[in-house]
Amino acid sequence: MKKRVAILISGGGSNMVALTQDMDAGHPAEPVLVLSNNPNAGGLAKAADMGIPTVVVDHRPFKGNREAFEAELHAALLAANPDIICLAGFMRILTPEFTAKWEGKMLNIHPSILPLFTGLHTHQRALDAGMAVHGCTVHRVTAELDGGPILGQAVIPVHADDTPDNLAARLLPMEHRLYPMVLRKFAGNDDTKVALFS
Ligand code: GRF
Repeated sequence: MKKRVAILISGGGSNMVALTQDMDAGHPAEPVLVLSNNPNAGGLAKAADMGIPTVVVDHRPFKGNREAFEAELHAALLAANPDIICLAGFMRILTPEFTAKWEGKMLNIHPSILPLFTGLHTHQRALDAGMAVHGCTVHRVTAELDGGPILGQAVIPVHADDTPDNLAARLLPMEHRLYPMVLRKFAGNDDTKVALFS
């Protein structure tokens, strides 16, 4: 039996596309749901085009009531019965109560070499810090924001003329290589870390 994977997005879903395209016949997992908190997320149409069921749990009606939003989110996930949840450009912060419900089953990709630059605006912060390298990390999701055990990392050089936008653009293809590699291992119960270099 293949592991069932739910992918959570908020935007274009390029990481969702990379994960889905990698889940081929020989892969230990299969995509069963793409869920977005944003009804206008471009990734929803991409998922539908690939034949993956989609659900929207719009966070806006809950007006900051995280618990109520997460109750809806949890119900939608339970209905899909995933073995693994991949956060892929999902921009809502999850409470420890929610992450505890899916402990050990939820992964996230963060655009920095964790534990450096947790949180937002990672590309600008890497440039401000004068980093010679930048990268992305796939980690298990725990109560600590961007703090769970690292499963894989990819590293790229920082160019002298880099702006946050072109640094992000050069990093994205590495995200699309790293996340599928980590998911394939994770779904196959292989916990050896992945290290990628451009
Ligand atoms: C990516 O940079 C990812 O690292 C971050 O969200 C951005 C957009 O991801 N978490 P996607 O194109 O929606 O997958």
